[in-house]
Amino acid sequence: MKNIFNPPGKRPNSIALMGGAFGDEGKGRVVDEFVHLFLQSHKQVIQYRDNGGSNAGHTVEVGTTRISLHQIGSGILQKGCIVISGKDMVIHPQDLVSELMAVKKISGGQLPATYILDEMAVLCLDTHRAMENLLKAKTTGGARTATGRGISPAYADVINRFPLRARDLIKSNWHDLFTAHYQLNRDLIKGLGASIAQVEIPTLDSTQTVGTLSMFLSRLEKCRRYLHPYIKPVFNLLNQAWSKSTPFIFEKAQALGLDYRFGTYPDVTVSDCSYQGILSSTEGIVDPHDIAAKAAVIKTTYMSSVGSHLVPSKNHHLTDRIRDDAHEYGATTGRPRNIHYLDIPFLSFIRRVGGYQYLCPTHLDISYPDEPITVCMSYVDSEGRKAPYRPDQDYLLTLKPVFKTFESWDGVLTRKAKKPDDLPPACHRYLTFLSKTLDAKLLLATTGPKRHQTIKWF
Ligand code: IMP
Repeated sequence: MKNIFNPPGKRPNSIALMGGAFGDEGKGRVVDEFVHLFLQSHKQVIQYRDNGGSNAGHTVEVGTTRISLHQIGSGILQKGCIVISGKDMVIHPQDLVSELMAVKKISGGQLPATYILDEMAVLCLDTHRAMENLLKAKTTGGARTATGRGISPAYADVINRFPLRARDLIKSNWHDLFTAHYQLNRDLIKGLGASIAQVEIPTLDSTQTVGTLSMFLSRLEKCRRYLHPYIKPVFNLLNQAWSKSTPFIFEKAQALGLDYRFGTYPDVTVSDCSYQGILSSTEGIVDPHDIAAKAAVIKTTYMSSVGSHLVPSKNHHLTDRIRDDAHEYGATTGRPRNIHYLDIPFLSFIRRVGGYQYLCPTHLDISYPDEPITVCMSYVDSEGRKAPYRPDQDYLLTLKPVFKTFESWDGVLTRKAKKPDDLPPACHRYLTFLSKTLDAKLLLATTGPKRHQTIKWF
């Protein structure tokens, strides 16, 4: 590996990847690429995820195999990788079982990589999905556009100091713990005028009702048996591996534009989408300042979002074309993604509060020779005065975008590019503009879903 993974004073061979916009930037694809790269020079690599749950979704293609992953890191398809779902994730057991089974199915019955679910990971159950379902219907805030995966109610249990954790699934008194949990949620939901047993919720494969207490427990019974071998303490493993030279790839889920402190509040998710979350999830072992390379993944010529993140640069005039060409439909919910112009005030804010040094632009192939690239360079308020990005949806709705156009290139031609010099000159100039404006060096770009459709600057 080149010097970027061994800068002075940092933990060599470590990289963290974060979403630099509203999620779905192609992080899974980029993470898969780095796992592959490190495995060429090391027997083992650790891929660690610390936030979110089955609200995330990324599709990875290796050879003829295509799979959507949600709670499991994309390194799961590569032998030698240890994939860890960390403490600060919220895990839905039934969805996790379906996902592990799907990976095994396409891999001849075995997981190619090693999978570990941190025993401290928080559980996100059907009860949480039921609560979210009701909040979606009864509130006007950010819950309305949530994925329905119960993420916010599961994190609320942590704040309320009564979460169930993965280790509770394998305790001898699990029955009592989950009964008490069900009964509490039954009462809370009754207070909202509904019967928990009848509330319909999504699962990875379909929908189901939460059901009676005995149905809830019998579903969990199956999951706990299946998941038992994967639920382990990870503190010592992480501590030892971090103090040695095993490569680490940290994969943040969602994106800083969806973070509840920095995103378009209230239409945000509720986990820590910044690198800082790695410190708490690893219980202080990994200080993100020590990570050798911190990179943000963004789409090159546009942004996408699911939900109603109304940045001033919303409603791209090429929405239908981009949606079709880049298949912009949510991997988790199947919802068509909203397409926005690239929004420099927003991206610059994310760059500043996120503190990344490298940029991984994806979807270089989504550029049309007959359409210049339109970029939102700044905002003005109703009086025409320049206005900054602030993480507040109401405020953002009062602003207007100021656009600039850039020369485009034939995206189809980039799909064959193997190195930066193969890219069309207009693409080069545009990438240089992005790198300068966001004050981040180009690291790796993707020109398509396949592993070979990658360009590296190192
Ligand atoms: P939640 O995370 O399910 O609570 O959803 C909150 C908001 O974040 C909604 O607008 C979702 O569409 C959005 N969101 C959550 N996870 C992702 C993701 O992985 N990609 C894109 N949007 C997401």
